[in-house]
Amino acid sequence: MNRRSFIQSAASGLYALAASNKLQAGSTASAGRRFQFPNGFLWGAATAAHQVEGNNLNSDYWLLEQLPNSPFIEPSLDACDHYHRYAQDIKLLAQLGLNCYRFSVEWARVEPVKGHFSRAAMDHYRNVALSCIEHGVKPVVTYHHFTCPIWFAAQGGWENPESIDLFARYCEKITRHLGDLISVACTINELNFTAQLDAKNFVPIERRKAVMSAAAKSIGVKHFSAAPLGEPKAISNNILKAHQKGRDAIKSVRPTLPTGMTLTMIDFQAAPGGEQKLKQLRYEIEDRFLKVARGDDFVGVQAYTREFIDENGFIPVQQGAELTQMGYEFWPNAIEPAIRRAASVTGIPIYVTENGVGTADDNKRIDYIEGALRGIQRCLEDGIDIRSYIHWTLLDNFEWTNGYEPTFGLVAVDRNNFKRRVKPSANFLGKIASSNSLPVSS
Ligand code: BGC
Repeated sequence: MNRRSFIQSAASGLYALAASNKLQAGSTASAGRRFQFPNGFLWGAATAAHQVEGNNLNSDYWLLEQLPNSPFIEPSLDACDHYHRYAQDIKLLAQLGLNCYRFSVEWARVEPVKGHFSRAAMDHYRNVALSCIEHGVKPVVTYHHFTCPIWFAAQGGWENPESIDLFARYCEKITRHLGDLISVACTINELNFTAQLDAKNFVPIERRKAVMSAAAKSIGVKHFSAAPLGEPKAISNNILKAHQKGRDAIKSVRPTLPTGMTLTMIDFQAAPGGEQKLKQLRYEIEDRFLKVARGDDFVGVQAYTREFIDENGFIPVQQGAELTQMGYEFWPNAIEPAIRRAASVTGIPIYVTENGVGTADDNKRIDYIEGALRGIQRCLEDGIDIRSYIHWTLLDNFEWTNGYEPTFGLVAVDRNNFKRRVKPSANFLGKIASSNSLPVSS
């Protein structure tokens, strides 16, 4: 079998399996047997500050978005104005039937100038957490989701070893200010993201350097480093240490707060001849990070798709594969192998902290959620300790360099007036969440 037909047959077989399991939540099937999720299972949706809040003026990404020749197709600007509309959004999330909200605290707002911690910004995030609690929703808080203060990037960002202590100090301040309200703490979102993009050569090194030097020039400094565009080895080494020190800082204030990192994971599959390369890449991108996570209370697993590896590395998505708006394969099965791998390498509880799909067809989102939940069900049946399913994302939002084009949200946002519109997929997930169960497929 050649490489292409191998991939196509693997894809069609598994997709047919997912489709045959199609759920009808809330209809006749729900009268039959149901798979019950563990008591206390968290059902939620996630956002990240920069992607939804709007006007994150002091952040490194804001600066990058404004550069001539920016790698971003458009700037974030007002985003979803979630900074002012969080109460309405949390109420909506609760009305859907979800019981947790994963949001991030924006470092660039909390420490806009090195060493100056904004009481007003920290109060804001305390209010966001209070609003969750008021609606019976558990706050799952990410301390750092990709964006950093400009001053931090201008002193070398994560390439600078001082980043470790600076992040720990920030973690301690946040925990002192709102830690009493937090249910689950994620230190750093996708701390292996730079390693993953580097291994994929997502942005060629010359382009990365050009963007960083244009950013440095624009603010009159020598060097500027915003992950994931900076020097990958230094970033990964420091960010791992920052996670550990940040975790210890959080625990020094609230020793019982479940704390962990989140990781971006891929359902790696070997094309013929790619087995060795797969092992090597998986070690560099995932396992070396998972091993560090062993010292944590949990690991946050985030998976969206699969990738095939041959003897030379990642190979492009094959013709005929169904694609998402992101250009990668529509692959609801991604989360199951990611969970199994994370659990077997770390031996600690798993929180699914992100999983979702960029699509304009909301029926596809429903299929995706269903496929993912079937995989989670199988993992639970095998005894894996999984504590949450948090969907990416609550709102159609700023999808980084892809701007507002990809729509990952359970809720659409009208960009002219910020009006929210609940999509059928939101109700689909909400019904499952409310019953904490899935109909058993025949
Ligand atoms: C990130 C999100 C992003 C999502 C969809 C995850 O890797 O944490 O910020 O929007 O993927 O691409």
